[in-house]
Amino acid sequence: MDVADAIYKRISVRAFLDKPVGEETLRKLLDTARWAPSGGNLQPWHVYAVSGNALKRFKAEVAANMQERPFGEDSEFPIYPEDLKEPYRSRRFKCGEDMYATMDLKREDKAGRMRQFVKNYEFFGAPAALFFAIDRQMGLGQWAHMGMYMQTICLAAVEMGLGTCMQEAWARQPTLIRTFTGMPEELRLYCAMAVGYPDPEAPINKLRTDRATVGETTTFLS
Ligand SMILES: Cc1cc2nc3c(=O)[nH]c(=O)nc-3n(C[C@H](O)[C@H](O)[C@H](O)COP(=O)(O)O)c2cc1C
Repeated sequence: MDVADAIYKRISVRAFLDKPVGEETLRKLLDTARWAPSGGNLQPWHVYAVSGNALKRFKAEVAANMQERPFGEDSEFPIYPEDLKEPYRSRRFKCGEDMYATMDLKREDKAGRMRQFVKNYEFFGAPAALFFAIDRQMGLGQWAHMGMYMQTICLAAVEMGLGTCMQEAWARQPTLIRTFTGMPEELRLYCAMAVGYPDPEAPINKLRTDRATVGETTTFLS
């Protein structure tokens, strides 16, 4: 597989086969991705890789907590800016609408859409999960570098036949994650990633999101 292939093939996978992904596979994946770049080679990322019985235990804790707090807690940082302006607002709206359309979930079907949203907190059935955290000392630059690392994981996963979904939704569960993983206070939780073998038949995995053209996002000076 060449790099361009992996870039095109990587999509957010939101339904997985019932096929385990254990620690050995996660180690292999992370061993490739650790070669991602970062300014000053700080490698500011901290990862908690959860699979097997540990993931089952964690999911059970989350499910018990969901009864009381279906939307989790407040995240430690705003996931999106308040009053998102154009064109970002429309892009976000379209992304949601296109996703729900794959399951024929209409806007009025609030309960159906909610049921789909809550699947975030089951990692969409994935057998493995990664949590990403960064030292509170780090600034915007280092956060960007952590993003590069995450994308590198996603691309390496494609080559291994795995699918991933990055999940900011987990930023709303900092206490549960911190307690379960033993994450120290000096780290700030950013995001999670579901990892597993994609279910090729699941309608939601047929979603192919669009992108702005190069011309819309780039100013060429030559
Ligand atoms: C950092 C990050 C966090 C995301 N968080 C979520 C999430 O919590 N739940 C979800 O269903 N998708 C999430 N996504 C997936 C995006 O919606 C998706 O990447 C975007 O719509 C483009 O689609 P694609 O990944 O299929 O190309 C996240 C993506 C990124 C990069």
